[in-house]
Amino acid sequence: PAAGWSIDADVVVVGSGVAGLTAALRCEAAGLTTVVVTKARLDDGSTRWAQGGIAAALGEGDTPEQHLDDTLVAGAGLCDEEAVRILVTEGPDAVRRLIATGAHFDESTEGGLALTREGGHHRRRIAHAGGDATGAEISRALVDAVRARGLRTIENALVLDLLTDADGRTAGVTLHVMGEGQHDGVGAVHAPAVVLATGGMGQVFSATTNPAVSTGDGVALALRAGAEVSDLEFVQFHPTVLFLGPEAEGQQPLVSEAVRGEGAHLVDAEGVRFMRGQHELAELAPRDIVAKGIMRRMREQDAEHMYLDARHFGAEMWEHRFPTILAACRAHGIDPVTEPVPVAPAAHYASGGVRTDSHGRTTVPGLYACGEVACTGVHGANRLASNSLLEGLVYAERIATDIARTGTLHPRVPQPLPTGERPEHPLLPPEARFTIQRIMTRGAGVLRSEASLSEAAHRLHELHADARDALDENGKTAEPGVDTWEATNLLCVARVLVAAALRREETRGCHWREDRPERDDTHWRRHIVVRLNPDRS
Ligand code: SIN
Repeated sequence: PAAGWSIDADVVVVGSGVAGLTAALRCEAAGLTTVVVTKARLDDGSTRWAQGGIAAALGEGDTPEQHLDDTLVAGAGLCDEEAVRILVTEGPDAVRRLIATGAHFDESTEGGLALTREGGHHRRRIAHAGGDATGAEISRALVDAVRARGLRTIENALVLDLLTDADGRTAGVTLHVMGEGQHDGVGAVHAPAVVLATGGMGQVFSATTNPAVSTGDGVALALRAGAEVSDLEFVQFHPTVLFLGPEAEGQQPLVSEAVRGEGAHLVDAEGVRFMRGQHELAELAPRDIVAKGIMRRMREQDAEHMYLDARHFGAEMWEHRFPTILAACRAHGIDPVTEPVPVAPAAHYASGGVRTDSHGRTTVPGLYACGEVACTGVHGANRLASNSLLEGLVYAERIATDIARTGTLHPRVPQPLPTGERPEHPLLPPEARFTIQRIMTRGAGVLRSEASLSEAAHRLHELHADARDALDENGKTAEPGVDTWEATNLLCVARVLVAAALRREETRGCHWREDRPERDDTHWRRHIVVRLNPDRS
């Protein structure tokens, strides 16, 4: 479809979580005309769901160097040390600026920030808000600030494709907007700088902690635009997600690592603390080790889940410290005050994404990425708990600085509008989403093998071929709309994810290959970088 409307700006920020809104606020403060576009409502992304908190060396005796060490260990040899150094050294001030923007964090009885622990952290360094509602408070504060500053925002705006000028420089984005008055239907924001902050792709699996909007739209756009994407095989599975039955699909309630940070135990049906002896930090080992420990025990005992036991917290602590989790458990008929909580791993975070440098620049001039959609190099093969909100903050600020410093050269007239719907990317019917999720959960979930991944690759290819044949033979394609675009984007990222997971013939971080159980530093201490040919894709 041709664009029905267009607007001009210096910067268009796509996405409205911690990364997107921070980038937008900083760009606007630097005097740049900034437009925020977001697929649903401003606070509908993953940020709102973050529980545990935001990690930074803010506590007495803690240092960025110690935070760096913990991040590098969790990242299993694949972090970019310079990117991590930036994160941990700029992090504390970025959190202070977030507080100055209006976010209220919990305080200790002495009056400083209350700090907790999570997996892989050797110190208490996680700041939190509302007990276990950190993301909700950050989202509230940033949305309030965006409204107070009068930033231009377009909600219900699904991003389709990147626009480029004749020199291949970024020139804006096309959007499919539903029900937003003058910006209804397919249109474009023309801007020489585009910041992708679209979040993750957890919806590529059946069970995930991610909201329904996390469908890999930014990574798919970047792939179609010919940008480099890296480390997609490193999908982090959160170890403790409330178990609602083997057939549960869609967003599942998270039980924060902070519950373990405050002393909860992981136990099997007999009450045995099986993480003891597996790692010096037991339940607080890095996330991949705990997820593997749970999965192994489940297999040994032919169990569908394990338990998180925090009955010893008592009602008062549960109510005060973890009100969100308590309410979610009780809503599903489980009372953590009196019974252990059934938990199992579920897809949680994409450690990889659109490859960027230390200023958030992707390989396409003028295209930036930050937050979960990006691969800045800070997470390596496995993100350290609560580093993601921090990464969103720090790298969003760096992007705004870079755009303000380099100026925004207005592009020449953009190329005819691409709509993403080209022979290599025919639109999929909405129901394909569930097929993709089942294929991915079965073949590319926590535990993978060459056989399971090959089967997944084959079935994903068939889905793609069916859609392409329908287009080739009779010009038929699914009706363009949010759900068809989401299914199409999910297929695009799933195929690259599976190809990368097949290629990485080792076990490292959160990539667990049953048939290649060892880490192989000789061959695989490197990244898998993918770039599609934009002329063909
Ligand atoms: C949690 O609260 O366990 C999530 C923290 C994170 O994903 O970083």
